[in-house]
Amino acid sequence: MSQEKKFEVAIVGGGIAGVTLAIALHYRSIPVTLYEQASAFGEIGAGVSFSPNAVQAMKVCHQGIFEAFEKVCTRNMWPSKQKVWFDYLNGSEDAVNGVGEDGFAFTISNSLGQNGVHRAHFLEEMVKLVPKDITKFRKRLQSITENSNGRLVMSFEDGTSAEADAVIGCDGIKSRVRQTIVGADHPSARPSYTHKYAYRGLVPMEDAIAAIGEERAQNSCMHMGPDGHILTFPVNHGEILNIVAFKTTADDWPDSQRLTKPAEQKDLLRDFEGYGPNIIKLLKLTKPNLDIWAIFDTGDHPVPTFYKGRVCIVGDAAHATSPHHGAGAGFCIEDSAVMAELLADKRVKSQTDLEAVFATFDAERRPRGHWLVQSSRRVGDCYEWRAEGIGRDFGKMEAEINERNGVIANVDVSKMCEHAREELGKRLV
Ligand SMILES: Cc1cc2nc3c(=O)[nH]c(=O)nc-3n(C[C@H](O)[C@H](O)[C@H](O)COP(=O)(O)OP(=O)(O)OC[C@H]3O[C@@H](n4cnc5c(N)ncnc54)[C@H](O)[C@@H]3O)c2cc1C
Ligand SMILES: *[C@@H]1O[C@H](CO)[C@@H](O)[C@H](O)[C@H]1NC(C)=O
Repeated sequence: MSQEKKFEVAIVGGGIAGVTLAIALHYRSIPVTLYEQASAFGEIGAGVSFSPNAVQAMKVCHQGIFEAFEKVCTRNMWPSKQKVWFDYLNGSEDAVNGVGEDGFAFTISNSLGQNGVHRAHFLEEMVKLVPKDITKFRKRLQSITENSNGRLVMSFEDGTSAEADAVIGCDGIKSRVRQTIVGADHPSARPSYTHKYAYRGLVPMEDAIAAIGEERAQNSCMHMGPDGHILTFPVNHGEILNIVAFKTTADDWPDSQRLTKPAEQKDLLRDFEGYGPNIIKLLKLTKPNLDIWAIFDTGDHPVPTFYKGRVCIVGDAAHATSPHHGAGAGFCIEDSAVMAELLADKRVKSQTDLEAVFATFDAERRPRGHWLVQSSRRVGDCYEWRAEGIGRDFGKMEAEINERNGVIANVDVSKMCEHAREELGKRLV
């Protein structure tokens, strides 16, 4: 144990939230152990992008996280598109007007433009910063109890257990730790289906260019349509195009235990029938066998509290969002930054100070986390011409997306942490 910190922290789950938090704590000399159910760190082979707030949060967590990101990050390829988040296009326009008139509607920009990374590559770079002896694999958490010394005892599925003074659940959308906080029967214990699903594909850039031309293939695009939208951005330094095709449905998802189900390219093509020839050409580049991803979130039943005693949740465990703002992972990193700065505060010395840390984290992060979940639903509907009061009006759409993206991006993460520490002071007296 370090000189100043007479407590140990356990992190459950090693996704983007758990790994960024472990790094942020370790390099602040806070004793930490990470427990992950899988046999190794791993992320899916898909793209994820980060907005300016997330990039600030990386630097607050640890400079090495920012450097890992810079190493694998891909921006829009054209110099004129460096600040473009997405060019929004009417996905059926090119059916009418042909090549060259591709239905451009409006552009949403921000200070950093689009920053896409391949998830697995980003995690791989970050994991190099995590010392081997602070990670334990094949540890699937089942329950948390308290022993007579006030230590928390985590029981794992393999029959083993481990102790810590605080447990931070970074165990994702189906969080076991969330269930232990709110109770397994509470409505917020389980996420809900947003009635949108997505097909994901990674295709070689040269094929994408051949299909839809350089401008649209090499720079991020949002192709809109009724009850569907398709977003694309380059990853792997422009060698690969990441495609995510979303569809809204009235049907329920068959099995909430499994968030993916197998599909075929012909299902994808059927879902996007009527879209322009550029879109169809692009979709035909995907593999014959695909997966459909159900988009679940915590929006129907927002978690009433992020902590109970010395157990807390961060990242998707606390606020799982649909991906329409492209900000869920970024908020995980913001959470990690705030949590690390609170735990590192000099006034936080022993087990008895930890509940105040979590109460502060909850008060500072819960409103923003829950806002993201609702706002993401709203902009997802905007992209699909379903949003009340907006419909098919591109001007209104542009204004509303800009306003909401501003709430996400136009923040000062250091000030956020400073404010949290001030609030912590009030709870520690
Ligand atoms: C289609 C899609 C696109 C997205 N695009 C973006 C984007 O462009 N930008 C963005 O910022 N966000 C995006 N997001 C959101 C982002 O993916 C998530 O917010 C983020 O990955 C969540 O990270 P996490 O670490 O909280 O959870 P997870 O990544 O789910 O990690 C949880 C970890 O905990 C482990 N675990 C679970 N249960 C247990 C247990 N009981 N015991 C031990 N370990 C356990 C798991 O194995 C896993 O490693 C997208 C999401 C989706 C679905
Ligand atoms: C998109 O383009 C199609 C074809 O030109 C047109 O019929 C439709 O009205 C456009 N949609 C919007 C929202 O402008």
